[in-house]
Amino acid sequence: MGCCYEVMKQRRTTRRYKRDPLPDGVVERIIQAGIYAPSGSNKSPYLVAVVSDFEVKKRIREEAEAVEREFYRKKRAVGEKEFLDWVQKKDIRVTKPFLTEAPVLLVVFEDSRWSDRHSLESTWLTIAYMILAAEQEGLGTVTYTPEPKTFLNTILGIEEHYRPQVILPLGFPQVRNRKVGNRPSVEERTTYFA
Ligand SMILES: Cc1cc2nc3c(=O)[nH]c(=O)nc-3n(C[C@H](O)[C@H](O)[C@H](O)COP(=O)(O)O)c2cc1C
Repeated sequence: MGCCYEVMKQRRTTRRYKRDPLPDGVVERIIQAGIYAPSGSNKSPYLVAVVSDFEVKKRIREEAEAVEREFYRKKRAVGEKEFLDWVQKKDIRVTKPFLTEAPVLLVVFEDSRWSDRHSLESTWLTIAYMILAAEQEGLGTVTYTPEPKTFLNTILGIEEHYRPQVILPLGFPQVRNRKVGNRPSVEERTTYFA
């Protein structure tokens, strides 16, 4: 499958993975794709932690689930019905089995020492490139963003100026969902000044 239009169109979030290992070289190709992304002042202001150690993945899962329980408790307390209905419809739960199922987790940190050069925007462009590269490789991922995320610095021993942005699990999907995602039309999201 060539990049990019078909890859962009067919990519869907994967929340359950097979435990099969990844082919050699695929993780490096995905990170390399992320590094090709443009960045403010060309600083490439990010760090990617590659986690394949099962015990470390387990600790990340335990902390993430603790954070999620508190997150949902607060959402219920303030009665955020629209969000709670949406997660229920999507069958998104407090438990995050993908964090231990996926053979590899990429944890992407923004290097906030470059925050005056758009380090946050640059990091997310890199994340977007890696998501597309994973799809092109036939792997699944989920843009997983527990809140707060500082437990990732603690578990991985990474300095505070690296701000965690996302966990991207990489693995073969248990079920391959190729349906084109439900999206607004171009007209709905565009204003023309012709
Ligand atoms: C910035 C961002 C944060 C997200 N955070 C989460 C998350 O924490 N947990 C999760 O299960 N999915 C998360 N997602 C995935 C979205 O729910 C998903 O992309 C969206 O529902 C569209 O579905 P699709 O990716 O299958 O097309 C996130 C996506 C983005 C772009």
